[in-house]
Amino acid sequence: MALLIKSGEIITADSRYVADIYIEDQTITRIGVNLETPPDTEVIDATGKFVFPGFIDPHVHVYLPFMATFAKDTHTTASQAALIGGTTTFIEMCCPSRNDDALEGYRLWKEKAAGSSACDYSFHMSVTKFDEQTESQLREIVADGISSFKIFLSYKNFFGVDDGEMYQTMMLAKELGVIVTAHCENAELVGQLQAKLMSEGKTGPEWHEPSRPEAVEAEGTQRFATFLETTGATGYIVHLSCAPALERAMAAKSRGVPIFIESVIPHFLLDKTYAERGGVEGAKFVMSPPLRDKRNHKPLWDALEQGFIDTVGTDHCPFDVMQKAMGASAFTAIPNGIPAIEDRVNLLYTYGVSRGSLDIHRFVDAASTKSAKLFGLFPKKGTIAVGSDADLVIYDPAYRGVISSATQTVNNDYNGFEGMEIDGKPSIVTVRGVVQVRDGKFTGDAARGEFLRRKPQHF
Ligand code: URP
Ligand code: ZN
Ligand code: ZN
Repeated sequence: MALLIKSGEIITADSRYVADIYIEDQTITRIGVNLETPPDTEVIDATGKFVFPGFIDPHVHVYLPFMATFAKDTHTTASQAALIGGTTTFIEMCCPSRNDDALEGYRLWKEKAAGSSACDYSFHMSVTKFDEQTESQLREIVADGISSFKIFLSYKNFFGVDDGEMYQTMMLAKELGVIVTAHCENAELVGQLQAKLMSEGKTGPEWHEPSRPEAVEAEGTQRFATFLETTGATGYIVHLSCAPALERAMAAKSRGVPIFIESVIPHFLLDKTYAERGGVEGAKFVMSPPLRDKRNHKPLWDALEQGFIDTVGTDHCPFDVMQKAMGASAFTAIPNGIPAIEDRVNLLYTYGVSRGSLDIHRFVDAASTKSAKLFGLFPKKGTIAVGSDADLVIYDPAYRGVISSATQTVNNDYNGFEGMEIDGKPSIVTVRGVVQVRDGKFTGDAARGEFLRRKPQHF
């Protein structure tokens, strides 16, 4: 059935106006004032609401074998939580370990998602080693529709690559026109600092941050930028967390290195005192890079407002309290990560736009449009235009609520943002013209999501 969304205030990365949107066969076919209502059309009154393009989360983990356990999510739970929070597309990290076959890993991740996602999705392909088979396997994966790689400069012997492997990955990426995304921390320093702290009996979650200090992330960021500058590949830093790393990335940007920056919502709003609560309460807030000193918040918000930070993702990586307790006697055994897929958009809107000084168009850009452009989804995704996919978020800016694990959809027994107020939320969310969320609740088709094949961008 066709859909007519009437009288909403359409807000994209570069425009704002009141109009109607008509949708046929998954696609926006008309935008205008007082559009007529053809027969067999469902009409949705969006008066007083914002209509945003579907939000895109460029960094999530759903299926993830990691740190002797598995992230606590399925594509069913993660995608429905995403939609309730206004995210209509996510890009998942496909992360076979160094001991796994990359192509088999890619097929496994695709199988896990197929038929179980309610929103659209794609993958960044992790390169966790570079051996005789890697090049041909990556060519096959890119030909199948993956236009971004992921490398880890940390997690030595598991996901991590050495400098030679980073170089080979970038050279291939440059040839193929693929963007290289990277987790930037110095693996050697993390390992040495972890061993030192543990030997001193410093075993609680409050020692996670001191084991990967800001300088360690700044070094990884600097090295990643140097390799991009040398190879000519295009790069994207994931989950940048602190001012020293930001300075290195901005210095590279300003001398023309093709480098883009993502920060994730926990690093704008939470700080290291959460992990300093100790015990399992602190373990809930262990992630890498770690939550930092609060003084980093302002530089991150400023850089986001000015467009130096390109995107805001989540690094959604959920483990429940029992899993977090696996690290009760060693912070090095606490599974790293925090759930955020459901709350990213509401938190960014509330603390950025509603209560902060983030321009609403920059908000749309950072949470949707820029990811669509960088990762080969634009203009199908990331905007509201005739011909674009009808992924729409009808957002109620008058809603007032509080984040609570008691009311969340995400499959976890805590919420790191517990008790935070929100000033708005999606009331209706569509995926290619089908209403998936109504009155803030998932009511749609649990298997609606499609695997999005993306073409290399040749930046
Ligand atoms: O702590 C985190 N970030 N967990 C997920 C793995 C990663 O580094 O992205
Ligand atoms: Zn990471
Ligand atoms: Zn991640």
